[in-house]
Amino acid sequence: GKVAVLYGGHSAEREVSLRSGQAVLAALQAQGINAQGFDPAEQPLTALVEQQFDRAFIVLHGRGGEDGTIQGALEYLGIPYTGSGVLGCALAMDKVRTKQVWQAAGLPVAPSAVIARGRAVDWQALITDLGGKVMVKPAQEGSSIGMSPARNAAELEQAVALAHKYDREALVESWLSGPEYTVSILGDQALPAIRVQSTHEFYDYDAKYQAGDTQYHCPAGLCELEERALEQLAVTAFHAVGGKGWGRIDVMCDHNGNFKLLEANMVPGMTTKSLVPMAAKAVGMSFEQLVKRILELSEV
Ligand code: DAL
Ligand code: MG
Repeated sequence: GKVAVLYGGHSAEREVSLRSGQAVLAALQAQGINAQGFDPAEQPLTALVEQQFDRAFIVLHGRGGEDGTIQGALEYLGIPYTGSGVLGCALAMDKVRTKQVWQAAGLPVAPSAVIARGRAVDWQALITDLGGKVMVKPAQEGSSIGMSPARNAAELEQAVALAHKYDREALVESWLSGPEYTVSILGDQALPAIRVQSTHEFYDYDAKYQAGDTQYHCPAGLCELEERALEQLAVTAFHAVGGKGWGRIDVMCDHNGNFKLLEANMVPGMTTKSLVPMAAKAVGMSFEQLVKRILELSEV
């Protein structure tokens, strides 16, 4: 069969997707798999049918690629694809609804509030309520785009305004001191957790893709029992939002050392600096083997 590697797209994470997609494409081709790149920002999706692709490997990050819309279009076109389905992707793209589902399932999340664009807010009361320091995020973004911390009412107002440039809803979350962990999911299993240690105030876009000073620890330095608990939490959280095939769950510790779920990534980064390939390597799986496995998982 002929595989289309979908990358690029229109989202704010387009650049990251191009890098992820090129790496995936090269890895498929190196294994003799008939794969071609396909950028939905350049061609209509119906061209996949005209060009007789049998399968799609989705490496689109963010809106229009990781949010269920492409998945729905591929269902409609009858083309099988890698990763999670319409519901899982749509849900995971929205940090607010993801947290609601996790909370309802009894899974641990940090206290937070949601601010819709244009709503009147008592900034001082809000920040006091959430412990005096918060992280503000657009509800539907990735790669830390539009995120910023706030320590007082004025900063909070500014941070929410920034988040509202990307989304009509801003998520205001109590500050989590860390450490930060990420757990990659392959099939129904967790790969070893990675501890992310950024020298920046938080793991921002630059720390993710540019700076050379972010440290990644795998093994993460947890005791056996904690590692198991974290992996179990990640698998449960992934399934709770309808995850399938592969993905990545981000987790952060609060000041008491309790794990709090941050978000689910249904099409996590696959660049050379990315975390899923790093976790796969820790169990002896090469980038090429990882990519092949993700493709195989789309057949079940
Ligand atoms: N949103 C980026 C691509 C990630 O989660 O890796
Ligand atoms: Mg994300």
